[in-house]
Amino acid sequence: QDHFYADPRFSDKQFLVTAGPTYEAIDPVRFIGNHSSGKMGFALAEAITSLGGKVVLISGPSSLQVKHKNIELIRVTSALEMLDAVQQKWGQTDLGIFAAAVADYRPAVAENQKIKKTADELEIRLEKNPDILSWAASNRPAGANQKVVGFALETQNGLEYAKGKLEKKKLDAIVLNEMGDPGVGFGTDTNSVKLLFKSNKMRSFELQSKQELAFSLLNELMNNLYE
Ligand code: CTP
Ligand code: CA
Repeated sequence: QDHFYADPRFSDKQFLVTAGPTYEAIDPVRFIGNHSSGKMGFALAEAITSLGGKVVLISGPSSLQVKHKNIELIRVTSALEMLDAVQQKWGQTDLGIFAAAVADYRPAVAENQKIKKTADELEIRLEKNPDILSWAASNRPAGANQKVVGFALETQNGLEYAKGKLEKKKLDAIVLNEMGDPGVGFGTDTNSVKLLFKSNKMRSFELQSKQELAFSLLNELMNNLYE
C-alpha cells in the first residue's frame, strides 16, 4: 500500500483531481450524463499517491474504487455538487488537475415527481452549468503559487480549441484528448494525448494505458510547472 518511490516533488504538495461524468437530474429517476468512466482521473490520483503525494479526488458517478489511504475520495453527482466540493478544498490545494467530463448544461427544473408520458412531445429546457475549472483558475489564493491543469476533449480542430481553452480559462497547462483516434477517449483503457503549456511548449504522448499515461503526464507537469 505504501508508495514505492517517494518523489519530493510530490510529497511536499497537496493535489486535487476531478474525475468522471456528472449526472444532471431531469426527475427522480432520469438524468443527463455522458460516457466518461473516470479512469483517467482515478489513474492520476493513484499515480500521485504512489509517488508520495496527497490527493483529494472529487468524482462524479463512477464504478471505480480507490485503495490508497492518501486518496481522499469525495463522490458527487451533479456539476453544482462538484463545484461545491472543489470550492471547499481549493484553498488547501497546490496543483489541481481537472479531468472530469462535467455536463455543460443541466435541466433548468428537476421535477419532483417522475415525468409521465402523457405528452406527444416533451421539451426540457437546459441551463448552463458553472465552469468549475475556470472558477478554480481565477480564484487562486494570493501568493500561493497554485497551478491549474485542464483537459480538453475535442472531435475536430483539437490544437486550436485546446489553445483557446488554455488562454480563456487562464490555465498553466491543458491535456488534449482527440476523440476519433483509435483507443482514445471515454471508457477505453488506453489514451494518447497532447500536453500544451502556457509557454506554448507542447509534448505528445503515444498510445499507452491510462495508468502509464498518468505517470508520464505527472512527470512532465512537474518538470515544466515548477522551476
Ligand atoms: N470543465 C469544468 N466545468 C465545466 C465544464 C468543463 O470544470 N462546467 C472542465 C473540464 O473538466 C476540462 C475542461 O473544463 O478540464 C474542458 O472541458 P471541455 O468540455 O473540453 O471544454 P468546455 O470548456 O466545456 O467547452 P466545450 O465543451 O464547448 O468544448
Ligand atoms: Ca464541455
